[in-house]
Amino acid sequence: MTNTLDSPAVQKVLDRLFAGAERDDAAPSPWVGGRSYESATTQERADALADIYMPISAAGGQLLYSLVRAARPATVVEFGTSYAISTIYLAAALVDNGIGEVLTTELSTTKIAAAQSNLEEAGVAAPVTILAGDALTTLADIPGPIGLLLLDGWKDLCLPVLRLLEDRLAPGALVVADDIKSPSMSDYLTYVRNPANGYVTTEFPVEDGMEISCRA
Ligand SMILES: C[S@@+](CC[C@H](N)C(=O)[O-])C[C@H]1O[C@@H](n2cnc3c(N)ncnc32)[C@H](O)[C@@H]1O
Repeated sequence: MTNTLDSPAVQKVLDRLFAGAERDDAAPSPWVGGRSYESATTQERADALADIYMPISAAGGQLLYSLVRAARPATVVEFGTSYAISTIYLAAALVDNGIGEVLTTELSTTKIAAAQSNLEEAGVAAPVTILAGDALTTLADIPGPIGLLLLDGWKDLCLPVLRLLEDRLAPGALVVADDIKSPSMSDYLTYVRNPANGYVTTEFPVEDGMEISCRA
């Protein structure tokens, strides 16, 4: 079986990016502006945190790779590209499926350029389109059906982005949200865990936690 994640090009890029992310964790918080994080706009947050990776975990990436291999989605949508660590896992699975594309969106121009370069160096750029700008605008008119949605942008926007895309989710679509231990994810979790809203959902216990929800 081909597993593009094992290719030297992908391994080299992921090793470098995860090492960069570890240095982030050791650095002091870059949030030094006079305004609180909560009162800043989404763009101000993206600009202030443009050097910070904030990636999914390697275990979360392996999970995403397996989910995409299993579900074989024609369209994967990602909210929050950053330096493209998660995008590399998604794109590697699509390359190995031989079908499908990833539409991913990011606010920071610094990160968009770096993400494109990282995807090309890893050899998995072909199925990926990076949509530059605010997800609430860039994802407003994308066509469905969406087979897998990864929510990993600012946490207070995960529920609005889900609601924006909900009518374009394929029956059985998978929705994966990262960092569910963040207090800002409480409204999202309340929503997907209410059976009346049409999801079968479970927590995947990895680092800051992932929620995996199936559009039932
Ligand atoms: C947690 S990081 C994403 C990490 C990435 N998924 C990975 O695993 O490498 C969140 C990213 O979402 C971006 N972002 C936040 N709000 C956004 C929005 N409204 N539209 C587009 N991108 C946004 C931020 O700039 C940041 O780079």
